[in-house]
Amino acid sequence: MSHSVLFVCLGNICRSPLAEAALRHECARAGLDVVIDSAGTGDWHAGQPADERAQAVAARNGVDIGHLRARQVTASDFRDFDHIIALDNDNLRDLIAIRPARATAKLSLLFDHVPGREGEDVADPYYGRDNAFDQTWAEVTEAATTIRKWLETA
Ligand code: 4NP
Repeated sequence: MSHSVLFVCLGNICRSPLAEAALRHECARAGLDVVIDSAGTGDWHAGQPADERAQAVAARNGVDIGHLRARQVTASDFRDFDHIIALDNDNLRDLIAIRPARATAKLSLLFDHVPGREGEDVADPYYGRDNAFDQTWAEVTEAATTIRKWLETA
């Protein structure tokens, strides 16, 4: 059975596109069929490509995310996806606040999938230095590995 996963951050231009790219890369390597998308709780960047620094770190790691365009999470996402994974605790709180009564998607925090890092946030690199994006990539890549293994057995 194939799974579907939606990653959600605030703007959908830095962290969640990288999480989407990392899991897509990981599932392709493992031959696992998973529908993967990302969205933001906010709509300020809707329609825009990912932040250039996010595009650059993905490209350095062999993944092209130039085609991605930001969008805001919608009510239907809560039924269309099996899993909605928040990048930080604020995103998770915001998702819980807007979750429709008939939602079927299971909500979780990205780092709750990584043993030893439960409850942690993926820090927002938007206002950080350029190497903040390398740290984001390392974090979402670590999570993608454990999420892929979890999906394989789920
Ligand atoms: P993201 O980063 O949530 O990882 O996409 C942000 C991007 C833009 C803004 C905040 C966070 N912003 O306030 O415009």
